[in-house]
Amino acid sequence: MAEVIIVRSQQEAGAIYAHCVANLIARKPDCVLGLATGSSPLAAYTELAKEIKERHLDVSHVCGFALDEYAGLDPSHPESYRSVITRTVVEPLGFTPELVHVPDGNLDTIEHAGQQYDAAIEAAGGVDVQILGIGTDGHIGFNEPGSSLASGTRIKTLTEQTREDNARFFDGNVDNVPTHCITQGIGTIMKARHLVLLAFGSGKAEAIAETVEGGVSSFCPASALQLHPHVTVIVDEKAASKLRNKDYYRHAYAHKPAWQGI
Ligand code: F6R
Repeated sequence: MAEVIIVRSQQEAGAIYAHCVANLIARKPDCVLGLATGSSPLAAYTELAKEIKERHLDVSHVCGFALDEYAGLDPSHPESYRSVITRTVVEPLGFTPELVHVPDGNLDTIEHAGQQYDAAIEAAGGVDVQILGIGTDGHIGFNEPGSSLASGTRIKTLTEQTREDNARFFDGNVDNVPTHCITQGIGTIMKARHLVLLAFGSGKAEAIAETVEGGVSSFCPASALQLHPHVTVIVDEKAASKLRNKDYYRHAYAHKPAWQGI
């Protein structure tokens, strides 16, 4: 079962992620980080930037792989995930731009881009820590309900729900949101050695309950995480509100041995 940590704020969640990743960078300067876009990981990146600065960590050899990219959106568009990763991760954290990869959403080459991306992750030694957000429909990456739980990186059609959820990044106009994406598959994500899923707000409560306490089903792609040996789910009170086993998660975290980390 995943470890579930219930926090008071996104900043508190971010600090837990940051401490784990900073320790990783300190012991493995050429570690491989799995990166997500969207709003959920932003505080985590801010906290990590702080910890990197305070501990004077050398991050020049850290490698990164983003989860997904819109298909057919120019990489120079401010909302392409290439731009978002540059703005929210590469620049503030001081990573080496050439070592941070984003799937290629170019429609001319997308047919083979997924396999090449998975091969590049393997060649880099695999992802050490993958940060994840979750969609209101239970997607991780852009693996919408019905995605194969064994899938590799590939093109997917976004649901109308996801396009509506993301319209806020495109002048509030759903028509501006691309219809397709290239996303790491659930099978790709499951190969990462440690998964850290962040979710905040009541809009995520249903998806979190399904993910952690529901049956494993491609209907809720994030539920595949139940089959992974090392998952940390960090949620605020609102996102935790539909969990049945909340008291136990609180009790377990409060009594966790200090040496264990997440
Ligand atoms: C983004 C991604 C998506 C988001 C999810 C939640 O790279 O893979 O799965 O994590 O849509 O988005 P936010 O965090 O904006 O609610």
